[in-house]
Amino acid sequence: MFNHTPAEVSVYEVSPRDGLQNEAVTVPTTRKARLIEALVDAGLRRIEATSFVSPKWVPQLADADEVIGLLPRHDGLTYSALCPNARGLERALASGLPEIAVFISASETHNRKNVNKTVDDTLARFREFIAPAVRAGLRVRGYVSTLWGCPYEGEIALEAGLRIARELVGQGCYQISLSDTIGVGTPRQTERILRAYLAEFPRESLAMHMHDTRGTALANIVVGLELGIATFDASVGGLGGCPYAPGAAGNVATEDLVYMLDGMGVRTGVDLDKLWAAGQVAKAVVGHELPGKVHKAGVRSLRS
Ligand code: HMG
Ligand code: MG
Repeated sequence: MFNHTPAEVSVYEVSPRDGLQNEAVTVPTTRKARLIEALVDAGLRRIEATSFVSPKWVPQLADADEVIGLLPRHDGLTYSALCPNARGLERALASGLPEIAVFISASETHNRKNVNKTVDDTLARFREFIAPAVRAGLRVRGYVSTLWGCPYEGEIALEAGLRIARELVGQGCYQISLSDTIGVGTPRQTERILRAYLAEFPRESLAMHMHDTRGTALANIVVGLELGIATFDASVGGLGGCPYAPGAAGNVATEDLVYMLDGMGVRTGVDLDKLWAAGQVAKAVVGHELPGKVHKAGVRSLRS
């Protein structure tokens, strides 16, 4: 075992977006920027900072344009934001972001609840702005949600997600983040899903986005690592959840992911102590205990 684990992985931090979109109370703009600064300080280099979605649908992120204006910028640091339509792309271009992320669900019901459209109509809408975004020099990432299960429809056929992923790559997405939106995945299922994607897509073009409702996210991530996946989405303190997917708890905690990878000798570029400090900032920013476990500064796993 562990013969194929990558020597280095990319951690894609989603707490400012997936985390703060799900808070009951809207976090003030300057506090959002403070959280992102702490994440940058911890060494995270890919951060999903906010969403250019409708403020009617996600009022918690209505200040997306202002948040982006407050962020520290330097080489090697990439911010991204969710983008559902051409209006979102306009806002992204005005903000100067280098990357956007589109999102769609393999479940018809979840997709309709989340973006008010069928899957096919959503893909048609993507044709209006993914290619123009790429032509304008942006990188576009794509999420495919509910691959491990849907809160409304239960099990989702593998082909439903695969056909979406093919279309997203065809339209210009450089990476597909395979998403367990409600955190129901288990390891054998993960192996079956990942092998189906790896049979069609290069491993660098795949990422995993695992919510951790039942404590199985890291087990699923180990399966992904062993199959050579090298990008994992995570959220400091385990914040997160989709407002239109009941039962979705937070993403895998970045602290847990980095701790495990550190112990496995897999490089992430993230400093665990500073990450713990960023978790404390997250706690202050949201004003309540974090859903993830208590993470202690200075604790190291025994490398094997
Ligand atoms: P709609 O109501 O069908 O469409 O929403 P609309 O075009 O009629 O828009 C409604 C209003 O929003 C209009 O304003 C638009 O102008 C405005 P009004 O005319 O009524 O004053 N609007 C916008 N404003 C600013 N920026 C925009 C924008 N677009 C429209 N880009 C729509 C359709 C897609 C816009 C809506 O359903 C939406 O924004 N949904 C977003 C839902 C969302 O963000 N969900 C959470 C993120 S997904 C997730 O968490 C899963 C993920 O983490 C992976 C996983 O875990 O599985 C990514
Ligand atoms: Mg999510």
